[in-house]
Amino acid sequence: MAKPRILLNLFHPNFEHSRGNQMLAGEAKKLSNLTYRNLYQEYPDFKIDVTKEQKLLLEHDLIVFQHPFRWYSCPALFKEWQDQVLQYGFAYPPGVGDQLKGKFWLAAVTTGGHQDAYRSGGRNNYTMSELLRPLQQTANLCGLTWLPPFVIHNVLPISMNGISDEELTKRAAEYFALLDSFTG
Ligand SMILES: Cc1cc2nc3c(=O)[nH]c(=O)nc-3n(C[C@H](O)[C@H](O)[C@H](O)COP(=O)(O)O)c2cc1C
Repeated sequence: MAKPRILLNLFHPNFEHSRGNQMLAGEAKKLSNLTYRNLYQEYPDFKIDVTKEQKLLLEHDLIVFQHPFRWYSCPALFKEWQDQVLQYGFAYPPGVGDQLKGKFWLAAVTTGGHQDAYRSGGRNNYTMSELLRPLQQTANLCGLTWLPPFVIHNVLPISMNGISDEELTKRAAEYFALLDSFTG
């Protein structure tokens, strides 16, 4: 059976200074069935080629949206990408814009905050699954299956007590294995 086609859409405003997302992207790029795209590099002026983005979505089965958490949400270009690319009649509403129906959506997110902060009563009060709801509902409306998010917490510099290199390497290998094992 042919391997599912994976599209990795990376949104990182300063990728050259990244610890976590660089390592994750490096692992993911080893997959021969994965198309890698660095959207901030592609569109530094935020002028998104909507036709190209829609075509790429149509050509793949699993869409991975990888980004650092920014103000409990996503980087600005990812929001702009959603607004521009997920057009009425293309991505929604059900029965009218059904072109993404049946595909899969994986959120791959790094956070500076600790896992323990993301809970009721914790420093950030809410769980990651609660905070990712707008993306989950976007996937729902567009007919994509929302997969359990892949999240790495405490992605800070080592000097700020961030995740160790060993642990980060281990998590990146898990990310590779997760993508490699995806069968649709
Ligand atoms: C403007 C800005 C907003 C951020 N907002 C959050 C946040 O809401 N929650 C959080 O846990 N970390 C937040 N962070 C920390 C980033 O998520 C963290 O630096 C990033 O995931 C590290 O990944 P990288 O090594 O690939 O850059 C923020 C960082 C910046 C610069």
